[in-house]
Amino acid sequence: DKDITILGIETTCDETSAAILKSGRDLVSNVVHTQIDIHKKYCGVVPELASRAHAVKVAEVVKEALGNHKIDLVAFASGPGLPGGLMVGRVAAEAVSALKNVPIIGVNHLEGHLFACEFDAKEGKIAADKQLKFPLIALIVSGGHTELWYVKNYGDYKMLGRTRDDAAGEAFDKVAKLLGLGYPGGPVVAKEALKGNPEAIKFPRPMMKGTFEFSFSGIKTAVSYYLRDHKDIKKEDVCASFQAAMVETLVAKTFQAVKKYKVKNVAVGGGVAANELLKESMVKRGQKEGVDVSFVPRALSSDNGAMIALAGYKKFMFAGKFNANIRINPNMRI
Ligand code: KG4
Ligand code: ZN
Repeated sequence: DKDITILGIETTCDETSAAILKSGRDLVSNVVHTQIDIHKKYCGVVPELASRAHAVKVAEVVKEALGNHKIDLVAFASGPGLPGGLMVGRVAAEAVSALKNVPIIGVNHLEGHLFACEFDAKEGKIAADKQLKFPLIALIVSGGHTELWYVKNYGDYKMLGRTRDDAAGEAFDKVAKLLGLGYPGGPVVAKEALKGNPEAIKFPRPMMKGTFEFSFSGIKTAVSYYLRDHKDIKKEDVCASFQAAMVETLVAKTFQAVKKYKVKNVAVGGGVAANELLKESMVKRGQKEGVDVSFVPRALSSDNGAMIALAGYKKFMFAGKFNANIRINPNMRI
């Protein structure tokens, strides 16, 4: 029934996480163990190191999230993601399911990022009480993915476009690396950008005309040429100008889709949704066009078990599917 308690497990990339969600609404626990310290010296996620770290941490993380709670269902992210991490998540989910004698459900990680927009953080408590309104255009922007979807209703998705090369977060990470700012790049580039002039350098806005596809490797290359050709650069101006180009492109594409599909709602999820300029620009454009823009709360923008538990709840409630397909799929589509 609708008051079930769900354990959500997330291991698709570089966060090992587990959470307990009650009645599809109340977040009881959400334990996140990030592997940033392991990957930062490479300025990117190293798959083999990620799998091992998930294997080392997953039992501890799941145990901590579970506490003494009685659960009715286990949901885990079965794709898309790194194969090693997905396998660890599946084994952990199967172990809990067998021990507690409860069904198991595999969910799409990106659907998790979408439904994370329903969470709201109020007075230190997080609850999923900001129901998404359909139809909507969803922009999922993270370190591994940049996708635009037309979401007609729950479970009724149409992929409009995705990135042909780098994901948006990946572009932030690579530019941070070029500037020697560290990893992950998004937060440091955004911080540096606060001190800079977004109009100092004109980086390209790759619109991929006539499609909803994205391409960000050109912006990154433009930044590297700029750094090669200029001696006295101001890092803050490079960051501000780069960020402006990224944000302008993401907002323009999203609202092209809004126009074409005549929707009144937009939802933005994924790690890059933590970007303040992106949020400000999306909300402003939304107000101008009478479109409601919903962002994932900052605390749940990165990978986490809470969003997997919520996506599992939706699947269970609307599709009534469980114990069906728990096969992992690194290239899973929505
Ligand atoms: O969703 P996420 O935690 O992991 C994936 O599923 O990929 O996203 C991580 C990505 C990183 O590339 C990081 O640089 C980016 O999100 N990111 C940001 C910001 N905070 C994190 N990008 C831009 N601005 C930010 N404030
Ligand atoms: Zn993610």
